[in-house]
Amino acid sequence: MMMDYITSFLDLPFPLFVLSTVVFLIFIVKQTKLLSSSNVKNLPPGPPKLPIIGNLHQAGDKPHVVTADLAKQYGPLISLQLGQQCLVVASTPEVAMAILKTQDRLLSSRVVPNAFQQESLIPHSLIWSDCNQTWKTLRTLCRTEMFSAKALGSQSRLREEKIGKLLDFLQQKEGQTINTEDVVFTTLFNTLTSIIFGQDLLDLKDEHGALDGLKESIHKIIEYGGRVKDIGAFFPVLDRFDLQGIRKGTMRLYKKTFVYWKHIVEERRALVNSSTWSSEQAECFLDRLLENGFSNDQIDQLITELFVAGTNTTTSSVVWAMTELVKHKEVVSKIVEEMEREIKSDRITHSQLSKLTYLQATIKEAMRLHPPVPLLLPHRAAETCEVMNYTIPKDAKVLVNLWAMGRDPNVWDDPLSFKPERFIGSKIDYKGQDFELLPFGSGRRMCPGLPSGMMSVELVLASLIHEFDWVLPDGGDPLKIDMNDKFGIALKRENPLKLIFKHK
Ligand code: HEM
Repeated sequence: MMMDYITSFLDLPFPLFVLSTVVFLIFIVKQTKLLSSSNVKNLPPGPPKLPIIGNLHQAGDKPHVVTADLAKQYGPLISLQLGQQCLVVASTPEVAMAILKTQDRLLSSRVVPNAFQQESLIPHSLIWSDCNQTWKTLRTLCRTEMFSAKALGSQSRLREEKIGKLLDFLQQKEGQTINTEDVVFTTLFNTLTSIIFGQDLLDLKDEHGALDGLKESIHKIIEYGGRVKDIGAFFPVLDRFDLQGIRKGTMRLYKKTFVYWKHIVEERRALVNSSTWSSEQAECFLDRLLENGFSNDQIDQLITELFVAGTNTTTSSVVWAMTELVKHKEVVSKIVEEMEREIKSDRITHSQLSKLTYLQATIKEAMRLHPPVPLLLPHRAAETCEVMNYTIPKDAKVLVNLWAMGRDPNVWDDPLSFKPERFIGSKIDYKGQDFELLPFGSGRRMCPGLPSGMMSVELVLASLIHEFDWVLPDGGDPLKIDMNDKFGIALKRENPLKLIFKHK
């Protein structure tokens, strides 16, 4: 029975499974001390653990749902043993605050997914470094050069331009069925590549062309990084063997991806290193990295991380909000009324977004029910510490279940209903101070891309509502729209949202 659980859990071919089991048992016998967290006194409560695998058999494909259910049984702070990894999950605003504010210093290191443990790249990581000097330098650089008010101001034109291209494309495709996620992703990816490289790397029209290789590679890297079934993470003694090929597969994709911008980096490097270069000539974020002496490895790593962190999250925010809007025509009508009152131009610009308070409430409501990063990115305890009088052992993986908090009747009235009105006149915001709504996290690891991400989400949604009526293909019933999600680095729809856009 236990073997069935393990084989099905790990999805390994049988011979590989037998080999890994033998190797694994030898290591386990030798290294029983590694199962140390089972001996820790006063761990947060959790379900009983089986020998060796602990609670692996309960993990499933949807950790946000599984841990939300376990929290109902065991309380707001639970612990699980996944192989050798101790996992701690918080599911209420109070515990989230204890982790992200009170113990922020000790609980802000990272557990690095196997996919991203690449020897040549990890020393240059912003997302996966502990809070060390590299992390501080990279965050500061991104804050000042990408996310400052000045930088965002100069990105407005770019963003409006990319969204203009999306609107033109959808007009040309009027009446045809569109994979919404695909076109929104391309638009947001190009927004980011224009900020970073000063040019688009994808083409909305290039559905099956050469550039699609880049899109596919980025999607696969994100998929590898978000794998729930990661044997190396559960049994670090086996990590070096990369039994599922996750590390090798990701590196192959990394190499494929870097080729797409290699020539751009070379060209700009030659320019920045030339004797005639002056800082006023800088046109994009890459120029700033080159001025700061970044090596190719440093550039490749940072840029891939910005793509991974900044495209899927924003796409998922837009697509989930659109899904809810397809279901809730009355909400669309209110947004349209607001636009008729506030917007007098043909196309919406950044400067008009602050007038659209009902639209903003709608986005908050969508993020409450469908947080794009439902468990935050994995935190790690740098030291043993206490949270709510329980012990969190050193190196435990620490998650905050935003998905559970968003659906908790003790936190929200009628939590499963989609009601943007709950945020009208409410001071609750997503900026990391209100622990019931944390789509960007809080504390030192909070998302640095919040201002840029929100601008994109608001402008894409506002523009699509302003310009088009959306219809489900084949007369589909909006009330029966499939709401299943798929866990990964970002929480996506399991099936794409396909819509027909009709110009108003
Ligand atoms: C709606 C869009 C977005 C959402 C919901 C979102 C959410 C998040 C969350 C929840 C985290 C992890 C916080 C934690 O672990 O405690 C995070 C981290 C991060 N995000 Fe975002 N994000 C978004 C957009 C962006 C954009 C546009 C960028 C950059 C272009 C970006 C860059 C990053 C980076 C670099 C980190 C890692 C920070 C660190 O580890 O110190 N994000 N984001």
